[in-house]
Amino acid sequence: MKKIFFTGIQPSGRPHLGNYFGTMKQLVDAQSGEYDMRVFIADMHSLTSTQDGEVVSQGTLDLAIDYLAIGLDPKEVLIYKQSDMPEVSEMAWVFNCITTVPYLSQAHAYKDKVAHGKEANVGLFAYPLLMAADILIHNADIVPVGKDQRQHVEMTRDVAEKFNRIFCTEKGKGELFKLPEARILEDVATVPGIDGQKMSKSYNNHIPLFSEDDDIKKLVMAIVTDSGNPSDIESGKISGIPENVYNIHRLIRDKSSLDELYSANKGKYKVLKDALIEDLIAFITPLRERRAEIAKDPESVKKMLAENGERVRALTADLMAEFRERVGFRL
Ligand code: TRP
Repeated sequence: MKKIFFTGIQPSGRPHLGNYFGTMKQLVDAQSGEYDMRVFIADMHSLTSTQDGEVVSQGTLDLAIDYLAIGLDPKEVLIYKQSDMPEVSEMAWVFNCITTVPYLSQAHAYKDKVAHGKEANVGLFAYPLLMAADILIHNADIVPVGKDQRQHVEMTRDVAEKFNRIFCTEKGKGELFKLPEARILEDVATVPGIDGQKMSKSYNNHIPLFSEDDDIKKLVMAIVTDSGNPSDIESGKISGIPENVYNIHRLIRDKSSLDELYSANKGKYKVLKDALIEDLIAFITPLRERRAEIAKDPESVKKMLAENGERVRALTADLMAEFRERVGFRL
């Protein structure tokens, strides 16, 4: 039996190079046949912050297309959307009933909201328990997530233990849930934005993953550098290597050829930026074209999601039946 590798992503806007090199690519690289891979789109979770049905629906379809475009292979990975599996709400409800308010009040997402003086909705408050249901309904072994989700996976383990104790071992029955392991996706590379800070939509320093050539040109031209003044390079005051250009370039080209290029062109920032533009265009164009191709036929993406929703419900039906039995949803 293969280990179950399971993760979810919220549909929240268009991906950029930082998302791609930070985490998305690691899912693509994990497709070796070693795992039973399931990846879902957390549209129910996204309602905690976006209450616009059009945005949620379009975001869900876009994210599915993005993942196919970067190379998640639907034969290797079961991609589905959360709301096609209403059983998770049912399971989350039971988790609500065995979890205390003081315990959930420690969750970061909720604490941050309150710290900013905002009133959290109940969905945001209970977010970790819906996430626990997402994971536990699969009895997943490995849950690859970014660092920010570590606490949620720990809470999932706590909930699983508590459920096992209350509804299983104390009743003299075998445990229902396995304790899932988080696999923390360290950023493979710290992906810098065009201003040298971490690439992030909130800093508006990002390069969209599926950019058009003209946008790539504009964004690269806007990368912040020092003056590149030859006498400053001569005197050693500056290196003549535009760090912010180099660090983005490093993501898509190997170090030795890059070092050669940059030392041969010290201080020639225009030449180096042009080289980055050319390499970025070569990297992004096939991704963008693949995305456009897939986006031409949204119906088949929707069909895939719907079929996978059915499949995943079938795969989890036995566990769900056992779950209902244990909590007393039976006669
Ligand atoms: N909370 C995750 C995020 O914002 C998304 C998510 C929801 C998830 N349910 C999950 C991730 C289950 C992994 C497993 O990124």
